[in-house]
Amino acid sequence: MDIKITKTAAPAAKPDPSTLGFGRIFTDHMFVMDFNREQGWHDARIVPFERLSIHPASTVLHYGSEIFEGLKAYRRDDGKVQLFRPMENIRRMNNSAERLCLPQIPEEDAFEILKTFVSVEQDWTPSAPGTSLYLRPFMFGNDETLGVHAVHNATFLIIASPVGSYYKEGINPVRIMIEDEDVRAVRGGTGYAKCGGNYAASNRAGERAEQKGYSQVLWLDGVERKYIEEVGAMNVMFKISGEIVTPKLTGSILPGITRKSCIEILKKEGYTVSERLLSVDELEKAMENGTLEEAWGCGTAAVVSPIGELCYKDQVFTVCGGKIGPVTQHLYDTLTGIQWGKTPDPFGWTVEI
Ligand code: PLP
Ligand code: COI
Repeated sequence: MDIKITKTAAPAAKPDPSTLGFGRIFTDHMFVMDFNREQGWHDARIVPFERLSIHPASTVLHYGSEIFEGLKAYRRDDGKVQLFRPMENIRRMNNSAERLCLPQIPEEDAFEILKTFVSVEQDWTPSAPGTSLYLRPFMFGNDETLGVHAVHNATFLIIASPVGSYYKEGINPVRIMIEDEDVRAVRGGTGYAKCGGNYAASNRAGERAEQKGYSQVLWLDGVERKYIEEVGAMNVMFKISGEIVTPKLTGSILPGITRKSCIEILKKEGYTVSERLLSVDELEKAMENGTLEEAWGCGTAAVVSPIGELCYKDQVFTVCGGKIGPVTQHLYDTLTGIQWGKTPDPFGWTVEI
């Protein structure tokens, strides 16, 4: 791959790590690459971070032709920077591209792009506990015409943002509202793809939940509004009477890389993990009779996030006494230990830059 690198003449000062939050500050450079049907992917370049100029008829502005990924670079104690399971993100991005008729990027090229970009921006990876450099690869359809069809032109970018915790609660339990009106996705739709449209469709319910003091909504399936799916930016897991349950991947849920990693960690340690349908009725009963022992969300941005309260049809249930449970804490420690290179990585998940 030929990646042309143009460095900024005016690098920005690095932010105070205590003020990071999530996705508000961006690094000095971005990766950009263009696609058209004649040349394929071309003009791979790393350039100073700047605003984009696009045609007002660009497909993405009208028909939502957009996909994205989210992964992090972590600063280890020895100063080196590492990625966590980047090939999983690359494969999922290509699956999302296939669903939205956007062009795929050969895996080896995407891997080289990611590593090159992170090595250019690696000084931006913060080292304070719990902080990382969030990488946001994204692609959009960029035809300059209003016809509705699979695009002939696309643009792929990677931007990066030094981040702290996603929720203001950090590792403290979050409050989640079970949404029984709006739905996020249906089987056969785009739920399993990481595309912007899924998030646009989520905002109304998210706003309503926030107004009531909840962090995010827990979605039910789009057909019967009966089965638990996932949270706005995380997959969910429950411990019910000793069994660890997580909704199975039916096509309407994002196949989370943190979810997959939690399952692999738990299975290796001998836990029973069931990927199955979990109805909201079953969950409600478990909350009522006290067999719901723990609940947590998992995702790249949120890491492992305990759920301390669930609200369903205006009934409020406290989970695990509103505290972080032992399995949740253990998963958080194991995963973050591997991600930040503080504990050995028996799975071979990390990639050093
Ligand atoms: N579900 C949704 C809707 C998400 O946005 C995310 C975040 O990426 C996840 C689940 C978790 O996925 P991952 O663990 O790959 O970050
Ligand atoms: C991530 O965890 O990477 C996500 O994509 C969540 C995001 C929608 C904020």
